[in-house]
Amino acid sequence: MTDPTYLAGFGNQHQSEARTGALPVGRNSPQRCAHGLYAELLSGSAFTAPRADNQRTWLYRRQPSVVVGGYRPLPHATWKSGAAQGEAAPPDPLRWGPSQLDVSDGDFVDGLRSYAVNGEPGVGGMTALAFVATRPMGRRALVNADGEMLVVPQQGRLLITTELGRLEVAPGFIALLPRGMAFKVDPLDVPARGYVCENLGAAFRLPELGPIGSNGLANARDFEAPVAWYEDEAPTSAGAYEIVKRHGGQLWRATQPHSPFNVVAWHGNLAPYRYDLSRFMTINTVSFDHPDPSIFTVLTSPSDTPGWANVDFVIFPPRWMVAEDTFRPPWYHRNVMSEFMGLVLGQYDAKPEGFKPGGASLHNSYVPHGPDAEAFDKASGAELKPHKLDATLAFMFETRWPLKPTAWALNDAPLETTYADCWRDLKDNFHA
Ligand SMILES: [Fe+2]
Repeated sequence: MTDPTYLAGFGNQHQSEARTGALPVGRNSPQRCAHGLYAELLSGSAFTAPRADNQRTWLYRRQPSVVVGGYRPLPHATWKSGAAQGEAAPPDPLRWGPSQLDVSDGDFVDGLRSYAVNGEPGVGGMTALAFVATRPMGRRALVNADGEMLVVPQQGRLLITTELGRLEVAPGFIALLPRGMAFKVDPLDVPARGYVCENLGAAFRLPELGPIGSNGLANARDFEAPVAWYEDEAPTSAGAYEIVKRHGGQLWRATQPHSPFNVVAWHGNLAPYRYDLSRFMTINTVSFDHPDPSIFTVLTSPSDTPGWANVDFVIFPPRWMVAEDTFRPPWYHRNVMSEFMGLVLGQYDAKPEGFKPGGASLHNSYVPHGPDAEAFDKASGAELKPHKLDATLAFMFETRWPLKPTAWALNDAPLETTYADCWRDLKDNFHA
């Protein structure tokens, strides 16, 4: 395939046309659109949301989204959303080995498995999922009316087709897919594996920078939206398209005779994005101690309570460690926020051996955690020279609400039964 080109900038008023003249000039919904297209509005916010929060995009397409058959339930054994679909579980730290690649023969939708859930679809909260995809979605598209999807590839490149165009992402990138927009995710390498945050709350945005100033962390210009692209096919000739819709915490399916990827031109600030995490400008101490891990926030979904995010997407990328007189790995802690972590590649400094790429951990609200005994001993005795943590990429979905593991996560996923043993050898070293 030819690599798609991109439009740079997060939240910008982008515009793109795949056919010259398809974008109307000076108005959004002319009496007759060029090339016989239909105008359709997709809103990401209430009409009257403040200008800084207002998101909407105009689509100029061959047929509007309303041309679709009736929806019927589509069972899915492992994609669960909302606290009501989680299980009661003791407040222990939980960790999983790499999610299995060999048990799945299916596309991205088939291969979604929720580790942990909170909130309620339509109200707020988030879902932490794994995915494995061994097949393209073909003539199948997913529309998540409950939330946006943040895709974190861990193994294998993905081609993501959306109504606004195509995004190619590899491990080390993320893709952000707006709520309500049709897309499909196809593996370019098989099998493809990764993680997804289904964000049921406010749309992800860049965090405020406060005293950091006007540069740093994830810079807006590094987010890339796709250029307009449509499946060039004659009506009905290529067979029916299955539209899979997430609505109310369950899946529904309908068929339509044409591709939903039929948008010839669009303009607006509600767009899918890809972002190369290696462009994250990491800030850390140059004296002693640690800033809180919020310094590594890439994107935040705020809640109605200032500072208490519905979910923050946080990364632990390659970086220099230079702190003096400091225990450099994360401290031991218990937090009100709940932490779901995954590892894209390499080692995570608090768990050098036990936490594997493709694996996951869950430290719920007020569940104590921190470096394992091996990491503690090593860091306590280390000579504090400048040290580069390299070839590593861990991430966290941090949410204000406790997360409930799902039945899959507790019974079928590679849950470690001995995780808490990693702290067993932490001795009482007190000497009076
Ligand atoms: Fe933590």
